[in-house]
Amino acid sequence: MLWQFLSNFDNSSIYSSQCANRMKNRSLVSIDDFSTEEMIEILDLTEEFEKQPVRKLLEGKVIATLFFEPSTRTRLSFESAINRLGGKIVGFSDSSTSSVSKGETLHDTIKMVSSYSDLIVIRHPMEGSARFASEIASVPVINAGDGANQHPTQTMLDLYSIRKTQGTLKDLNIFMVGDLKYGRTVHSLMMAMSRWNATFNFIAPEELKMPDEFKLYLENMGLKYYEHSDFTDIITKADIIYMTRVQKERFSDPIEYEKVKNVYVLRNSMLKNTKSNMRILHPLPRVNEIHTDVDSNPKAYYFEQALNGVYTRQAILCSLLGIK
Ligand code: CP
Repeated sequence: MLWQFLSNFDNSSIYSSQCANRMKNRSLVSIDDFSTEEMIEILDLTEEFEKQPVRKLLEGKVIATLFFEPSTRTRLSFESAINRLGGKIVGFSDSSTSSVSKGETLHDTIKMVSSYSDLIVIRHPMEGSARFASEIASVPVINAGDGANQHPTQTMLDLYSIRKTQGTLKDLNIFMVGDLKYGRTVHSLMMAMSRWNATFNFIAPEELKMPDEFKLYLENMGLKYYEHSDFTDIITKADIIYMTRVQKERFSDPIEYEKVKNVYVLRNSMLKNTKSNMRILHPLPRVNEIHTDVDSNPKAYYFEQALNGVYTRQAILCSLLGIK
């Protein structure tokens, strides 16, 4: 009788429910915390949220958003995602209004907040802070950017934007331009795209080159990367141009920042012979690195990319909370 009962199950639904259950109650600190299969599952779920973003799936859930560093897109898209799912938000956008200003440690802050919430989203200037928080918290922790290290939810929305515009994640030629040293978004995206046989072109001033540890990561995977000081002659080969801001806040010497801040500026005139399906991405905010004359070019995708952040974060929140 038992075998007859079991044979009535649809294997694909068992498989998908196992995948969802594997993500339940886990933290997302590094993009490598997700397997390739889990990334694809999040991207597929994001598509569903894009079709219908208002669903009361987080009713009764409280999400804490702790931002120790400024943010517009990450914080507000998380909060928009939570509101559209019927959840509630506690937290701060300015740590000077919290007891951190009285000297409370990150350890004690996380311990307290994990007893007030079902999941914590944290942005912090210190590399490793999100991992530290995940080891203390009794609820899942999502890294919303830890110093120059990683920004995995940005990467998931970048992957979604790439798959949506290119129709695939496989075998793409990715140009990464600007601050590749301190740019946490390029670090996470490079690690993720390495799973789909991407070729990387790194364009950065000498002072802001891709750190050796990330180049070694690609070498260990047998992937090709090229480093350039200029990209005007090779821009026609790009499938994706991922522009980044030179981050003033990461420089201790303002003169060093002044030297490199305007080295790369993408202008509309440079895009003339680029591939028809090429798209320009930027995690934003931008300063000068994309001239506003690019904004009306159909190849500019950065504002749609930021909108995709709402749906992607809905998919991540539901997966880590084990909500289908
Ligand atoms: N992309 C991104 O992290 O933007 P914010 O700093 O505005 O959150």
